[in-house]
Amino acid sequence: MAVSFTVNGKAASVDAGDDTPLLWVVREHLKLTGTKFGCGSGLCGACTVHVDGKAVRSCQTGLKDVAGKKVTTIEGLSPNNSHPLQKAWIAEQVPQCGYCQSGQIMQAAELLAKTKKPSRDQIVQHMDGNICRCGTYPRIVRAIQRASREG
Ligand code: FES
Ligand code: FES
Repeated sequence: MAVSFTVNGKAASVDAGDDTPLLWVVREHLKLTGTKFGCGSGLCGACTVHVDGKAVRSCQTGLKDVAGKKVTTIEGLSPNNSHPLQKAWIAEQVPQCGYCQSGQIMQAAELLAKTKKPSRDQIVQHMDGNICRCGTYPRIVRAIQRASREG
């Protein structure tokens, strides 16, 4: 049976198995490919999206779990890539291969939505579960600090 929800402000209805991971719903059914598959086991954060404003691992979230909810992917974080984090990410030239970065930004966006001026420790703690194989961690922290200053 089709499950209805909102994606990036638009109504969506997807007919797939109840337990189909949200990751595949957004990538395959809705063709929003900014969200990445990393581990498929909830261990890396590459697939992070927001559900009702909360950062979740979309590989571990079933389609039925988003019924009636608001899903936001990296494509919907801002209408024109102007979110303070997106600007800071460019200014600090954070990405290397880029694969983990949409998940990093979505994780960081949850933090800044509730804590406008996080401490360095708060940033490190909040970002702890998001893995970057390229080791861009210092630049990620700098970009979040910049966004919190300039946002
Ligand atoms: S792909 Fe979902 S946490 Fe790694
Ligand atoms: S930039 Fe390559 S995995 Fe993070």
